[in-house]
Amino acid sequence: MCGIVGYVGPQACADILVDGLRRLEYRGYDSAGLAVFDGKRTGVVRAVGKLQNLVNALKEKPLPGSLGIGHTRWATHGRPTEVNAHPHCSGEIALVHNGIIENHIELKRHLAEEGVKFSSDTDTEIVAHLIHREAKTGDDLLGAVRRALGHVHGAYAVAVMDARQPDRIVVAKNASPLVIGFGEGEMFCASDIPAILPYTKRMLPLEEGEIGVLTENGLELYTLDGKRVDRQPKTITWSASQAEKGGFKHFMLKEINEQPRAIEDTIRGRVDLAAGDVIESELGIDAETAKSLKRVYFIACGTSHHATLYGRFLMEHIAKVPSQTELASEFIGRDPVVGEGDLVVAVSQSGETLDTLAALKVAKEKGARILAVANVIDSAIPRAAHGAFYTHAGPEIGVASTKCFTTQLAAMVLLAVFLGRRRGTLEKERAQEILQNFVEIPNQMRTVLALDDIIRDLARPLAQAKSALFLGRGVSYPIAVEGALKLKEISYIHAEGYAAGEMKHGPIALIDADMPVIAVMPDDKAYEKIASNVQEAKAREGHVLAVATRHNADIGGIAHNAIYVPKVDPVLSPFVTALPLQLLSYFVADFKGTDVDQPRNLAKTVTVE
Ligand code: M6R
Repeated sequence: MCGIVGYVGPQACADILVDGLRRLEYRGYDSAGLAVFDGKRTGVVRAVGKLQNLVNALKEKPLPGSLGIGHTRWATHGRPTEVNAHPHCSGEIALVHNGIIENHIELKRHLAEEGVKFSSDTDTEIVAHLIHREAKTGDDLLGAVRRALGHVHGAYAVAVMDARQPDRIVVAKNASPLVIGFGEGEMFCASDIPAILPYTKRMLPLEEGEIGVLTENGLELYTLDGKRVDRQPKTITWSASQAEKGGFKHFMLKEINEQPRAIEDTIRGRVDLAAGDVIESELGIDAETAKSLKRVYFIACGTSHHATLYGRFLMEHIAKVPSQTELASEFIGRDPVVGEGDLVVAVSQSGETLDTLAALKVAKEKGARILAVANVIDSAIPRAAHGAFYTHAGPEIGVASTKCFTTQLAAMVLLAVFLGRRRGTLEKERAQEILQNFVEIPNQMRTVLALDDIIRDLARPLAQAKSALFLGRGVSYPIAVEGALKLKEISYIHAEGYAAGEMKHGPIALIDADMPVIAVMPDDKAYEKIASNVQEAKAREGHVLAVATRHNADIGGIAHNAIYVPKVDPVLSPFVTALPLQLLSYFVADFKGTDVDQPRNLAKTVTVE
């Protein structure tokens, strides 16, 4: 998980590298470090904790020079200490790495037998020593890195410098992301596009098993077995300011507020209202395939998994196809019965989540058709799939997913209508109605965002809670579980999301005056039932906050407080009920003073199993 960045060109690079790391800090913030060649030797500065500690260390020990690499770490092997921080060095070699070297124990034993002394507990240091050993044979850095990686099993994106060849950085990728940025007389590399977006919009994501040499003159790209690769960079349309806070206190708050625009961008060009249809050419699903589908299988993790719970609801409701959803990590832990005739939809905002990628590969090997839903273009998951559906949320920097979640919900709507129309389970008139209501959703979301002051007031007492229960039924169940995840990950308050009908089977024992209950209960066919469940909680002194439909007169008698959302098509209510819960969690965390954008122990892109 970790972020890496590199620069070669005419400019002093320490500030460029730190700037890039600042945008990568969401990937991990246990330590950070830079290596910069100053014309004679490579200087290294590393610091434990947040990037600011590295900035302070660089004031004491500046690193002049125009060739450098940087790293921000999410610790896997070895505690978050300075010796375990990257870059790792061996002789003239300096290296940064994102990923996990699976055979590190065996490699370490061999190197130790050869007399190598280790100064860290990391798997990464081993790669630095391997390259150093290979570089001694006199080959250029590219050859040394290629041979060294030939001994390595596992996931890696690496950037490597050699003080004896100070005009180049060698980069390589296997299962961890790495993008190359093309400037004018300068070149960049980074784990993610926003890190280098202020410097160039011309980017080339590396593919699995590629290795390249960056010099001021450009990129020479090869496969690990030495074949020359000729691929051209693409122009990224995101603006650099989309990856900045834009006046908001936190990225998360900015991203919550961007949701109406993100949904509009995700719908744009894909909806044909007159035909009552969804136009999408990249799905890789023709009418025949849609008709003959035996089952839809969703795989995802975390918040993306919650989006797929809504996907399952829509598949059954609209496309009338048997559907199930699986946590990717559990899917790979079993022997899932999946194969020809099944559509497996792998959902991931980052497109890099290793559990989801591994599950996708299992399903693909068994013969299923794979569709990726991702936010990052050309990331690993869409590349491994037969077809891709991109959400257009723009860069999401806050570790807690918000706009990526609701754009995933939008993808679920579009996919269900697409399949429903081709399978003949959705009439044109109802499709037109759903799609018309759907294009109006961004404005309804704007109305909800305007409730922020009310929601802030309701969040204040919740900040004192030790625990909270989120309830939902039917289409609102995914929103309840997502609401609970949001609260726990950024405010560190324990929260459970439950299907309201399950309360009586156990969780109701938890209810007392100290247990806030947040009930997602829009005006739909589940309303009467969840209203009864909520009454049961209230009768046991639970303090109830309802997210309910405006003008619903009953709520006053059912809940202590309510957040009223506009009335929308009942199948689309998650778009308006998700937002109050995101804002509630945000304000609770802000009251508590936690690190909203970079909550403890988490990282934005989870590339470990
Ligand atoms: O990039 P992905 O969508 O595959 O990530 C999956 C989860 O790691 C992610 O949703 C995680 O749960 C977030 N912290 C949620 O806010």
